[in-house]
Amino acid sequence: MRMYDIIKKKRDGYELTKEEINFFVEGYSKGEIPDYQASALVMAIFLKKMTKKETVYLTEAMMHSGDVIDLSKIEGIKVDKHSTGGVGDKTTITLAPLVASCGAPVAKMSGRGLGHTGGTLDKLESIPGLSIEMDQDKFIDNVNNHKIAVCGQTASIVPADKKLYALRDVTATVDNISLIASSIMSKKLASGADAIVLDVKTGSGAFMKELEDSFALAKEMVDIGNGMNRETIGVVTDMDQPLGFAVGNALEVKEAIETLKGNGPKDFTELCLNLGAYMLMLAKIASSYEEGRKMLEESISSGKALDKLREFIEIQGGNKDVVDNYDLLPKATNVIEVKSPRKGYVSKIEAETVGLSAMMLGAGRETKEDKLDLGAGIVLNKKVGDFVEEGEILAHMYVNDTTKLESAKERLLSAYTISDEKPVERKLIYGIVT
Ligand code: URA
Repeated sequence: MRMYDIIKKKRDGYELTKEEINFFVEGYSKGEIPDYQASALVMAIFLKKMTKKETVYLTEAMMHSGDVIDLSKIEGIKVDKHSTGGVGDKTTITLAPLVASCGAPVAKMSGRGLGHTGGTLDKLESIPGLSIEMDQDKFIDNVNNHKIAVCGQTASIVPADKKLYALRDVTATVDNISLIASSIMSKKLASGADAIVLDVKTGSGAFMKELEDSFALAKEMVDIGNGMNRETIGVVTDMDQPLGFAVGNALEVKEAIETLKGNGPKDFTELCLNLGAYMLMLAKIASSYEEGRKMLEESISSGKALDKLREFIEIQGGNKDVVDNYDLLPKATNVIEVKSPRKGYVSKIEAETVGLSAMMLGAGRETKEDKLDLGAGIVLNKKVGDFVEEGEILAHMYVNDTTKLESAKERLLSAYTISDEKPVERKLIYGIVT
């Protein structure tokens, strides 16, 4: 088999066989296929698209490019949740202990931020002492004994994706449904959960900006999961403005904790209850969505969910006092007010632009090597639909290193559209895909 023929076949719009896709993934992982040939194939896939069959073959080949974790020693149906990412997405920090507090085993492997803001692991590491490094035995023990473990994806899980994602990132081939679906699902399947809830984002801050594409991505991933005997549900949710108010690592941890205390932002709380109810259903803890939601609400109001968070922080080596004392989190020395240049309704807050502004304050990485400032970030004061007076505070910026403060402020203001008309309310949950 020759890579040249595989590239040519895809370039001309034909369907690749399982053997051809395996040849590519294996050869590229081993370094036998050079980047220029891999780039050509990925661009041909981007332009000519892949069939469902090809996407499944690619997912399987990627999944088997490294270790496949066996979680069969964990009792019960292990549920995982994955979000396609966005700005202010601190869902795992709230959702994992919330769902675990209702009895579902949560075995979660998370990644670091790929884009402008930190990932779940970065956010969790702003809790003093908390470690996301653990071996497989410890991971399994924690889930068996405490119903919860969150660890970092090791380099041995889907190594092919690490190489391929890095290549896609620099060749303008990220936003293709088959490539995203196989990248995400290969990692989920290799991580060993029995059931998966996918939070597929839509809107300006998401990979998929259009609703139709988001549903198509959800369907592709759900079909892959179900086809491999992992019960999978996709929920298409809004990412047109940041989720909640906080953007930035420690700031988001604080908001996630407040949500478990029952004081969370309306949109973020609703998202957690929605995704959580499906997780409880898939784990067969709740027999209906309504029952799942009720269990989650009761767990928040009784303080059970917050106790589970304390337990989770403690077993992963962190200081659980953080739950009651936010002074223990990394902080910023400067808090800057950002004021509205005019009076009117906030009709748009471009999520991606807010994320870029937060990155300039140190909350995200510009390059892989960048060190994060865990205390830095932005807390919005107004969300889409709110009315503001001229000079009223739109947001606060939290910053230690002020070198890029002025441009970050300018960038943040450019995310806002203020208009005379009240905007039409966007939905938070667009629908589910099964
Ligand atoms: N997240 C991933 O893990 N992979 C993609 O391709 C896109 C988002």
